[in-house]
Amino acid sequence: MRKEQLMIINFQQLLKNNYLINQDIEQVEKLLKQYLDCDLKIAHNIAHHLVDAGGKRIRPILLLLVAKLFNYKDQDHILLAMILELLHTATLLHDDVVDISEIRRSNKTANCIWSNSSCILVGDLLHARAFNAITQVKDQAIVRYLASVTEEIVQGELLQLLHCFDITTDETIYFEIINKKTAKLFELAAKSATMLTQQNQIVQQQFAEYGKLIGMSFQLIDDILDYSGNPIKIGKNIGDDLREGKPSLLIIYALQHAAVTDQQYIKDLFSKNNSLDKSYIEQEQVLKIYDIIKSCGAINYAKNICQKFNQQAKKIIIDLAVPHDKQIANILIQLLRDLAVRIT
Ligand code: IPE
Ligand code: IPE
Ligand code: MG
Ligand code: MG
Repeated sequence: MRKEQLMIINFQQLLKNNYLINQDIEQVEKLLKQYLDCDLKIAHNIAHHLVDAGGKRIRPILLLLVAKLFNYKDQDHILLAMILELLHTATLLHDDVVDISEIRRSNKTANCIWSNSSCILVGDLLHARAFNAITQVKDQAIVRYLASVTEEIVQGELLQLLHCFDITTDETIYFEIINKKTAKLFELAAKSATMLTQQNQIVQQQFAEYGKLIGMSFQLIDDILDYSGNPIKIGKNIGDDLREGKPSLLIIYALQHAAVTDQQYIKDLFSKNNSLDKSYIEQEQVLKIYDIIKSCGAINYAKNICQKFNQQAKKIIIDLAVPHDKQIANILIQLLRDLAVRIT
């Protein structure tokens, strides 16, 4: 698949037709490429391998949109948006090692081409660069916020690791995991833009909530697509969550609502599996689990939760009581729809 195809999902189309933040996105891309350059060839190549393959750039886009919503005039939003993508890139490098993933952004993962050790170290390097960059941000509260979110992402990934192959994982734990590993960075994107534009505490809190909701919904959608998506469109393998023993919401729901024999089938797969050997699970077994989660209503259940999160997020924008750009507000609402359309 051509790389450009991966970039084109609806909301990027939407933004392409919208001159409002295009220049900002271009500046972020340019800066990001600079921050990836490195004299050490292996680091340079690994970082560029992942970033040049595309990606949705949803976190920087969110930050740029909220900054524009409040008519931000300075330049820190470009740096901050770049830092978010840099952190995201580092997390993906580490995540693919932890998950033993082979495909990302329609390419072989860096851990498959180079090695786990080199990806861990390059991920660390990108984290370090993000922290170097953040020292240039004037608002110290944002610097502290970014540091705490970085810690929470790692905590989320650790919590997830602890619960791999654990069929007793419940919804509370699942939502804590996705909040930390994914939603926190979205929360940071939305809220830090309100901090840059010196909005009051209420508005800052509202955008922290908007970011959290969009992030939770985003991970739920990713988890649904892991079973039901088109691998060409999502640029990743289908069934990886099952092979990795991830008790996503779909599995948690099925373990409570599927037919008893189907529940047993899931339990057997989870207990026989071994995180070091992903080939243990056959494609047919992924399809069988997909049938189970679909027929017991798990997918609909997860979609309904996404919809609920999206409605709450939309309401925050609609009810916004301080001066803001109405056109951008509409894009922030449209963004929710365009992300969710992937599972309809
Ligand atoms: C992947 O993030 C990790 C998740 C939080 C699901 P994205 O879906 O934003 O990945 P790219 O950057 O578009 O490739
Ligand atoms: C990853 O979740 C979240 C982070 C990168 C922190 P997943 O493991 O589901 O993401 P993908 O599916 O590999 O992109
Ligand atoms: Mg993963
Ligand atoms: Mg996933």
